[in-house]
Amino acid sequence: MSYRYIGNKTRIADVILGVVADYLPPQAVVADPMCGTASMSAALRQRGYRVVASDLLTFAVHHARVRLQLDAAPSFDGLGMNYAGVLASLNALEPTEGLFWREYSPDGTPAAGCAARKYFSSTNAARIDAIREQLRAWQPRLSDVESSLLHHDLVLAANRVANIAGTYGHYRSTWSSSALREITLRPTGFEQGPTEDHIVLQGAVEEIASEISADACYLDPPYMKRQYAANYHILETLARGDDPEAIGVSGLRDWWDQYSDFCSKRNIADAFAATFNKMDCSLFFVSYSEDGLLDVGTMTGLFSEFGEVKRFDFPHQRFKSNRGGVGGTVTEYLYMIRTD
Ligand SMILES: C[S@@+](CC[C@H](N)C(=O)[O-])C[C@H]1O[C@@H](n2cnc3c(N)ncnc32)[C@H](O)[C@@H]1O
Repeated sequence: MSYRYIGNKTRIADVILGVVADYLPPQAVVADPMCGTASMSAALRQRGYRVVASDLLTFAVHHARVRLQLDAAPSFDGLGMNYAGVLASLNALEPTEGLFWREYSPDGTPAAGCAARKYFSSTNAARIDAIREQLRAWQPRLSDVESSLLHHDLVLAANRVANIAGTYGHYRSTWSSSALREITLRPTGFEQGPTEDHIVLQGAVEEIASEISADACYLDPPYMKRQYAANYHILETLARGDDPEAIGVSGLRDWWDQYSDFCSKRNIADAFAATFNKMDCSLFFVSYSEDGLLDVGTMTGLFSEFGEVKRFDFPHQRFKSNRGGVGGTVTEYLYMIRTD
């Protein structure tokens, strides 16, 4: 699954799991409560572990359901069509002028009174509106995992044609060639492995930790101040299927209810402490970057208060925006903390 998401571990999932697996019994329950694209959840499932995935954000929950709870297309009985038929009918919808056209396309007139935004071409925005309207109409006839699959497909399709430089924090002033292509929902290639026994939750890990019991927990927190809820606001709106107010020049939804304490130097230690203390788990792995908010000494000091700490280092490709950015390699740290 190709996905430009800050901190996406697709490329190093196997390396990280190579270390983690040494500490796990077969068929262990492993939590991935900051799952993002669910790349690590999918890799854990492939290796036969039972996974508890969650995230603060709704689109991540859709990705986790699809990547953990399906190994083939669901039946879509309620719609009387198979998966291919559902996608074909969504791709053939007449464009309609709704929230995305009005707020996120160059022909729209933002309610905030600012200049028209250019996140999507006008045609693509109107096609997204039509798909959103159809998904809302179908919702009562879809199972949770069917609904997640269609929202997952819509998020991935929107990512392929979004006129952005890396994240949705702002749109590009000129058009990228991919943004001018027509948006199309493509069929998902399903992961293999057991579909049973995986659990998908949503919420701040430090708040829902008491609902999780696991043999090990992999934590992959944001490592910068940049809030994911703000930087991926468009994906959250697609995932929720709602019509939020688009605020300011960039048209962000109000995302403060999904503010992450892991992006704050002041709050991060308490967020880790609450997670370690509340979860029924005594083995934690934490990914963190050399570029992160806290340095190695601070992290090691923080984790040492909870038990034995070990650190493994891997070189990793830096996230690079279209505008260039730093690039190159960066050391990715994996801390192991035994809290018993
Ligand atoms: C570095 S990314 C994870 C990337 C993921 N491992 C992947 O491969 O795609 C960090 C994730 O943590 C989530 N997050 C941030 N704060 C959180 C919190 N307090 N509780 C749960 N998830 C949180 C973000 O929404 C984001 O998806």
